Amino acid sequence: MCGIVGYVGPRLASPLLLEGLKRLEYRGYDSAGVAIMNGKGVETRKAPGKISELERLVTAAPIHGTLGIAHTRWATHGAPNFCNAHPHLSCDNNIAVVHNGIIENGSSLRQALEDVGHTFRSETDTEVLAHLIEEFFDGNLEEAVLEALRKVEGTYGIAVVSSRDPNKIVAARKGSPLLVGLGEGEYFVASDVSAILAHTRQVIYLDDGDLAVLERDGYRIIDMQALPMTRAVNSIDWDLDMIERGGFPHFMLKEIFEQPTTIENTMRGRLLVEEGTAKLGGINLTNEELLEFDNIVITACGTSWHSALIGEFMIEELARIPVEVEYASEFRYRNPVIGPRTLCIVISQSGETADTLAAMREAQKRGARALGIVNVVGSTIARESDGGIYIHAGPEIGVASTKAFTSQVIALALFTLRLARLRGLPAEEGRPIVEALQKLPAQIKDVLDRADEIESIADEFNDAANFLYLGRGYNFPAALEGALKLKEISYIHAEGYPAAEMKHGPIALIDENMPVVFIAPHDSVFDKVVSNVQEVKARGGRVIALTSRSEPSLAGKIDYEIRVPETIDMFTPILAAVPLQLLAYYIAVKRGANVDQPRNLAKSVTVE
Ligand code: M6R
Repeated sequence: MCGIVGYVGPRLASPLLLEGLKRLEYRGYDSAGVAIMNGKGVETRKAPGKISELERLVTAAPIHGTLGIAHTRWATHGAPNFCNAHPHLSCDNNIAVVHNGIIENGSSLRQALEDVGHTFRSETDTEVLAHLIEEFFDGNLEEAVLEALRKVEGTYGIAVVSSRDPNKIVAARKGSPLLVGLGEGEYFVASDVSAILAHTRQVIYLDDGDLAVLERDGYRIIDMQALPMTRAVNSIDWDLDMIERGGFPHFMLKEIFEQPTTIENTMRGRLLVEEGTAKLGGINLTNEELLEFDNIVITACGTSWHSALIGEFMIEELARIPVEVEYASEFRYRNPVIGPRTLCIVISQSGETADTLAAMREAQKRGARALGIVNVVGSTIARESDGGIYIHAGPEIGVASTKAFTSQVIALALFTLRLARLRGLPAEEGRPIVEALQKLPAQIKDVLDRADEIESIADEFNDAANFLYLGRGYNFPAALEGALKLKEISYIHAEGYPAAEMKHGPIALIDENMPVVFIAPHDSVFDKVVSNVQEVKARGGRVIALTSRSEPSLAGKIDYEIRVPETIDMFTPILAAVPLQLLAYYIAVKRGANVDQPRNLAKSVTVE
């Protein structure tokens, strides 16, 4: 969503803040701004559009100061324009606030503040905070912030500065991630570690209800009652070049090409080859506890929801326990049947998705145990879940999730193997699954080696208006994921369907202008998929088929073929995902779209 970075120390703040914002730009990018203490007061620069616009302004009119805050915005309240860009100021311009999240009682607070004479300059909920802090300010910034936050309903990660208490940044968190970075004689605040990784690896993740005060000679953390809190310092092991493009034109392409390594990292140290199962250190469940569950609910959003569907199929097939997959955004609004005998698996790349976090909390409130399958170490879901599996895919910067998806599926497979063994899957049936897992990195590499072929198919379709993606069994979720990738980065309308459902409606759309991507590896439903290919071909549709061997039954029925290696059924969606990611990528690039920062999207959706 939006991004926050703040700095206090001996160095000039503006270059550090702009650099941090650029690293956060993938989180939100419709406008940006900085507020820096210039020795006399708070000086701001704001610009709609990309960070480069803001950078242009700051270069033209530099701000001198060594303490400041900055923000990159993804609009929720109010259009993406200059007025609505953060930082927001109090009436007297002495207090500046940057904010991620949503102030739910913003309208009533605004009315009350206007009634006592405050004048607002933006349509944002954030501006309420600046005026509210001003209202309570009596010489000490953290006290005013605490008072203000006690009146606020909703979610926030904030950073505040004031020229009337000029030597500190006050930061606070409720429901929106925020961390403090500890440098050599300098301190940072950021919504995401990538903003400050160039300067420090020592970070403290703030908990909900924490307020941090950063000054030149130290930091303090207090709670909402102003009582001192102690928080652990974490050492981050991500490298800076892990969050840079490494010679690729886009993060998305880099991340697609990282997948042989990233899935290997997900498996590393977890496979028990001879025993045909997996060990998972972090799930915090004994064998006895794992056997006590009656059912499993998996909840997630977007791409993570697609990996959840694959997890459902795997777990039901091998561990023989009922699994339901729920959209996290719907879950808590429909009184789900869930309790202590349900295991809730929560999947999130970022570990910060507001809907997913809320669904997890709801499940926990109802007595369920929550296991997180998360990429970002130290994220809120990782910390609040009762146990979990880190997917170790490394930072995913491209807004379109790619390597996280394949690693999530691997993590689900590992969990399936562990649970299935306990529930009676013999070692001799687990062993071929483990062996198939071990082959996947090289098989993904084979697919990547044929990226050129996929690019030339993209040449034929970059002017398409619509796309259908069809698959069955394990590859129905792969079809959904292929369609999501295409629509989010190329803006071509695309739908994923179970192949056999096509005849119940979408078949009406088929004509010579409709490209249809079939995911048709040689699996247990292959023959069924061939019939569906025939149905499309008979109506003039243009068929692109993902196949895993030369199939006489497909001869003459497909227009373009993408060959993927053979694997067991449950891993076919992994090998399908990679060429579908590439197809979407190349189509989007050929259409001139900004694949890493598609319009209207944010990497981490931290609002409901
Ligand atoms: O960080 P999460 O996995 O919780 O994010 C969930 C979705 O917002 C995310 O997968 C989204 O759908 C991506 N843009 C898909 O590429």
